[in-house]
Amino acid sequence: MKPGDDPAQGGLTADLIMPERPAGDPSAADRSATDRPAPQGSAASGAAQAGSPLIRLRGIRKIYGEGATALHALRGVDLDIDRGDFVAIMGPSGSGKSTAMNLIGCLDRPSGGQYEFLGARVEALDRDQRARLRRRYFGFIFQGFNLLARTSAQENVELPLLYRGESRAERHRLAARALASVGLTGWEHHTPAELSGGQQQRVAIARAIVTEPAVLLADEPTGNLDTHRSREIMELLWRLNADRGITVLMVTHEPEMAAWARRIVHFVDGMVDSDRRNEQPTGLAADAQAAAAKTNELEGA
Ligand SMILES: Nc1ncnc2c1ncn2[C@@H]1O[C@H](COP(=O)(O)OP(=O)(O)O)[C@@H](O)[C@H]1O
Ligand SMILES: [Mg+2]
Repeated sequence: MKPGDDPAQGGLTADLIMPERPAGDPSAADRSATDRPAPQGSAASGAAQAGSPLIRLRGIRKIYGEGATALHALRGVDLDIDRGDFVAIMGPSGSGKSTAMNLIGCLDRPSGGQYEFLGARVEALDRDQRARLRRRYFGFIFQGFNLLARTSAQENVELPLLYRGESRAERHRLAARALASVGLTGWEHHTPAELSGGQQQRVAIARAIVTEPAVLLADEPTGNLDTHRSREIMELLWRLNADRGITVLMVTHEPEMAAWARRIVHFVDGMVDSDRRNEQPTGLAADAQAAAAKTNELEGA
């Protein structure tokens, strides 16, 4: 990316917001527990970072229906999300969490307010442009997994690539790689019914990341899972954020899951009620422990 490229001018540029891949970044290994979100450090070199966050919502409103039955689901949401952040959205049922996620993921349009995605005005885009933006930059994970039932794990994961017009060989290669990254090598030909809930959600995560999205939107991803499987899913989300720099937005009502996030935003009555950084995310503590164990091992302690 060249400095001075402005997504608001020339339309959204793919290179501009693809997540950085600090796979070979040695500093990733010795990140200390006091570090701020690591991916931003490496990814923030781009010019676009200087001015605008990845996502900026200003006075976002959403009204379902009209007249006497109009329902105000969002009543003026202001929210900035930086690339590489991991944000948990909490709040009572009906407070507008899913509505906000759908708007951010371009599945729906706001009734009012401004939504900028890296400086580009999303509410000004037409339907096709929003669909393209969605397919290119967003991955979705839902509570109910939303997999095609009589379709293999492999084919479920290939689906977004089919929409993108990838060749059969490329679809196969990328889907196999995505399934491997969620620990499902060997399960490619199983249908959802032949998989556990945790495995189904991992297929859904593979499907969400196979297009290498900049942002992962997860709406109660552990809502249908027991504690053990939930933790596995959180570890996966953590790694996608920490190792690949993917920005993660996750709705959850479970404090234990929110504790994995680097930032926790509470919604009440269609507005942001509180917004705080989580200085000690669960995954960071686990990383620090693993690093300490490694050091002890090396020192023969
Ligand atoms: N498609 C819809 N049509 C009408 N009302 C809706 C629709 N989706 C959500 N709502 C209403 O909007 C409010 C916010 O819903 P939602 O965003 O799903 O909340 P949350 O995810 O926090 O539980 C709720 O009162 C809900 O009933
Ligand atoms: Mg919801």
